[in-house]
Amino acid sequence: MSTVLVVGGTGTAGSATVGELVSRGHTVRVLSRHAPVRPPDGAVHTPGDLTTGTGLAEALVGVDVVVSAVDGRTKSTRRIFTDGARALGTAARDAGVRRTVLLSIVGVDHVQFSYYAALTEQERIHASFGPGTVIVRSTQFHNLIDSLFTATARVGMLPVARGARFQPIAPADVGRALADAALDPAPGDRIEVGGPDIVPMRELAQIWKRVTGSRALVVELPVPGSVGRFLREGRNLTPDNRYGTMPFEQWLTARRG
Ligand SMILES: NC(=O)c1ccc[n+]([C@@H]2O[C@H](COP(=O)([O-])OP(=O)(O)OC[C@H]3O[C@@H](n4cnc5c(N)ncnc54)[C@H](OP(=O)(O)O)[C@@H]3O)[C@@H](O)[C@H]2O)c1
Repeated sequence: MSTVLVVGGTGTAGSATVGELVSRGHTVRVLSRHAPVRPPDGAVHTPGDLTTGTGLAEALVGVDVVVSAVDGRTKSTRRIFTDGARALGTAARDAGVRRTVLLSIVGVDHVQFSYYAALTEQERIHASFGPGTVIVRSTQFHNLIDSLFTATARVGMLPVARGARFQPIAPADVGRALADAALDPAPGDRIEVGGPDIVPMRELAQIWKRVTGSRALVVELPVPGSVGRFLREGRNLTPDNRYGTMPFEQWLTARRG
């Protein structure tokens, strides 16, 4: 059995990973700035801040594998992907950790978009720490699509990017993929995982309306520039890696039902 530290283990992907590792019988520690509202079953939470490195050395004592599933969505928190990646890489190396698994996004290096550029830099920094790094790139999570439509439905509209398709995946499936990458004897250094289906965004909006009973209007919008091209070319998809087992409609029905 291994001892695994999940950095960002209170978040969407991180908490699913914690649940998966605990259910497989491993010793799991969770590091994040804030204590979770509900303590993770069978895991121990340690407060820490990846951006400053606070609490990292203590959390890493006796750890075999680190999984990093952190996020920094605003300009001011984005340093987590650079300073945080360096702090984690250095502390993990000093602590003798044998593997670090990093969660990233499919196609992250194929579009000029500042958030994606920061994640690409995060991948580069982690990879620079050597062969013990495994990068797991996932497609968009079901809950991201759900929150996008939930937010815009409040103003009566479901915007869909013209020509865009998604391959959304359940957070539980992402947790399973990260746990596999943490425990597999020879996982390879780069893994892509996506949901079971590739679905036009317009159809995702129709599914969302059907399940939630929303009367919001589906509005198709052109997306200009490199982001539009990225989506139309399907660079956000990984058709050969349909790792997820739960389709968007089934996930949404279970959540909203
Ligand atoms: N959402 C998607 O569709 C999707 C798809 C593919 C990949 N990803 C990538 O997956 C990663 C995780 O996404 P998510 O949606 O699971 O994120 P999330 O739910 O926002 O969780 C982020 C986690 O990071 C922790 N965190 C944030 N700042 C921290 C800091 N300075 N020090 C320590 N912990 C910190 C948070 O806890 P505290 O705030 O308490 O510190 C939380 O546990 C991101 O890099 C994202 O780009 C997301």
